[in-house]
Amino acid sequence: MKRVLSGMQPSGNPHIGNYLGAMRRHVELSHDAEHECFYFVANYHALTTVRDGATLHNLTRELVLDYLALGLDTTETAFFVQSSIPELTELTWIFDCITSMGLLERAHAWKDARAKKKKEITVGLFNYPVLMAVDILIYKPDMVPVGKDQKQHVEMARDIAENFNNTFGETFKLPAPDIKEDVAVVPGTDGQKMSKSYGNVIEIFADEARLKEQVFSIKTDSKGVDEPKNPTEVLPYNLYAFFAHDREARDLAEKLKAGGVGYAEIKKKLFETLLDHFAKARTARRALEKNLDHVEAVLREGTRKARAVATATMDDVRKKVGLWL
Ligand code: ADP
Ligand code: TRP
Repeated sequence: MKRVLSGMQPSGNPHIGNYLGAMRRHVELSHDAEHECFYFVANYHALTTVRDGATLHNLTRELVLDYLALGLDTTETAFFVQSSIPELTELTWIFDCITSMGLLERAHAWKDARAKKKKEITVGLFNYPVLMAVDILIYKPDMVPVGKDQKQHVEMARDIAENFNNTFGETFKLPAPDIKEDVAVVPGTDGQKMSKSYGNVIEIFADEARLKEQVFSIKTDSKGVDEPKNPTEVLPYNLYAFFAHDREARDLAEKLKAGGVGYAEIKKKLFETLLDHFAKARTARRALEKNLDHVEAVLREGTRKARAVATATMDDVRKKVGLWL
């Protein structure tokens, strides 16, 4: 049985990029008897951007409900909140002491922040990949399903694991990133990568009015209804194709090439397809909101499983590095 580990930051409402790039795969693997999954809501990581306690608390709870509503199977999967495992912060310090500044200076997030001359770059942002290496390695997973933008972080976790193993003896497994290339980067309503921090998202659980607004804000050019269009250049078509059946997508592509289909019509199709695709999840989410005892119980059991693995790893690590009397 392969062990799977992944996390997601509660830094905003999840969008269809998160779904296609990561959450869908997480849910799928949770149903597969060949895989033992550990998934968590990465609230320590979100502290690098969220600066209001009530907001972080709410976003964390919301993301827990979102995952469960999407159909995560928690009978075998450990589903928990990152900060329920305090051992993570202890291992972060130990990794800090063997990780070179040079490795972290190569991280995209830090390089981007510097290039954009962000006013305040915190130690937490710089150190983000070390915490991420910790919350991967402590559970000794075989694979880490993430979107392409997280590939570098998983590679850094492998570097840190190798470094630790070479220094203190074989301890950590080297995990492999698991990235679906066909949906590696989902574009946002403005054509850039869809991201909570760019304000270009289509949210999975937005109410109908908001969802419609987001879909109808997708950027297009000024071609008229009758003009032939190249489907690959039509942003709402590309998003539609992620959700439509192959035949439906091919049909619409042909119609676009022939001319006679306007952008409003494609957006309407996309809106309806999204409502349909997530209808079950939306209903499930409303039911979960009324069954918070169940949600608490799932998290408690997930924490128990995760903590058992984390404490065993830490006992070994403390011995290896000399932190025992
Ligand atoms: P965001 O950029 O919206 O803040 P996160 O960094 O929290 O998203 O990413 C959560 C997960 O979703 C990660 O595994 C990430 O790779 C994936 N992901 C985020 N945006 C996209 C996208 N536009 N396309 C595909 N996957 C994405
Ligand atoms: N950095 C990841 C993101 O922004 C979230 C995350 C934190 C994560 N720890 C992880 C993902 C460990 C995979 C494994 O999406």
